[in-house]
Amino acid sequence: EEAAPRLTVIGTGYLGATHAICMAVLGYEVLGVDVDRHKVERLASGEVPIFEPGLPELLTKALDSGRLRFTTSFAEAGEFGDVHFVCVGTPQQAGSDAADLTYVDAAVSSLAPHLRRRCLVVGKSTVPVGTAARLTGLVQELAPAGTDVELAWNPEFLREGFAVDDTLRPDRLVFGVASDWAHERLRAAFKPVLDLGTPVVRTDLATAELVKVAANSFLATKISYINAMAEVCEAVGADVKDLADSLALDDRIGGKFLRPGLGFGGGCLPKDIRAFAHRAEEIGVGQAVSFLRQVDDINRRRRARTVDLVRDLLGGDLAGKRVAAWGAAFKPNSDDIRDAPALDVARTIHGLGGDVRVYDPVALDNARRAFPELTYGDSAFGVAQDADVVVLLTEWSDFREVEPEALAGIVRHRRVVDGRHALDAARWRAAGWEYRALGRT
Ligand code: UDX
Repeated sequence: EEAAPRLTVIGTGYLGATHAICMAVLGYEVLGVDVDRHKVERLASGEVPIFEPGLPELLTKALDSGRLRFTTSFAEAGEFGDVHFVCVGTPQQAGSDAADLTYVDAAVSSLAPHLRRRCLVVGKSTVPVGTAARLTGLVQELAPAGTDVELAWNPEFLREGFAVDDTLRPDRLVFGVASDWAHERLRAAFKPVLDLGTPVVRTDLATAELVKVAANSFLATKISYINAMAEVCEAVGADVKDLADSLALDDRIGGKFLRPGLGFGGGCLPKDIRAFAHRAEEIGVGQAVSFLRQVDDINRRRRARTVDLVRDLLGGDLAGKRVAAWGAAFKPNSDDIRDAPALDVARTIHGLGGDVRVYDPVALDNARRAFPELTYGDSAFGVAQDADVVVLLTEWSDFREVEPEALAGIVRHRRVVDGRHALDAARWRAAGWEYRALGRT
């Protein structure tokens, strides 16, 4: 048996920090690399810079084991690693739908000159198809002559809030490789995960890149599909909740990602479908995925329609109305407010003159920093004091568990807009509330 490879993880953001910590917990020697000295210092001192259940405990465990260290030095990384995972971000470019590959290119360009022996560079970031082929050329050009370096692609599917579990027990591993040697190196780098019986798909680089965007596009499409049905339901007075429940019982369709409401946000789905549509146009197959533009449009309409629903419920005018906004994070169990539908709605209502008060159990600090113009409160009941309407925007269990009878005593008017179809409509109505949700009667 070959010795276990030593791993470097380049980029210690959401994906990289989770990957580095989990790999060290699984028994590998791991070096986390980041250009951000502050981030490196925080991680090295045991502090996880993101909100992710279970991760702080695992970081402590990994540091205590002595198997996890952090550095800002690419020279050290080149010296240390047998397998180098590239985990940097690929945000949406300003003013374009394309992915910004600056960080990926910088990571590879910084590492390659320091590679000293036969090793594998593995991309995990979400990239436009064709990037791996280009990076293969870049690595070979920049690595010292005679160094045998290969590139592979291993897309990452982790969800925020479940990142630890998704990393330790993934549904599948996809290994995009150009040789048997690269495949064997990847198998060695994931041995404990493979030993759990995790299915592996071995494929080429381009397919591996595509799996990720195809998966996220499918999920986004499923959400927009049910939200499109919600628009139809509204027109005829039908009920999208019952419709979705009925579709979900067909096990070919299934109920996951079929929850209607305010739609998707976050750092992945919105930018990934835009970047994919853009890339497809570049390579001459724009028509094949042009439906993704509609998926995006349907999703954006949810936010506007939710504001309209609130305004209608208030008799057509938001000016001066006290609005309790429940939720800021793009989804529950996350502090992430990137492209958060909740904050979009709150800001629009604020812009229309509404007196909005926002509360979120975890994302409040992030929201405050990003949008200081909004008013914030420190509890679900606090922001609902004297409210003309309560609007549920992120389905935290704190909100789902609120007793409508108790809340009734503190609001000015018993009106609730359920932006996530997360409340028991019958119960709220029984407690005297006017309950409204998009696509429901
Ligand atoms: C997503 C993918 O699930 C993950 O595999 C990928 O690696 C990164 O992108 P994440 O962004 O963490 O993960 O969130 P996810 O749980 O997928 O939710 C995305 C958005 O869809 C959220 O805004 C959520 O509120 C919304 N959503 C989800 C719905 O509106 N309806 C649903 O039925 C499910």
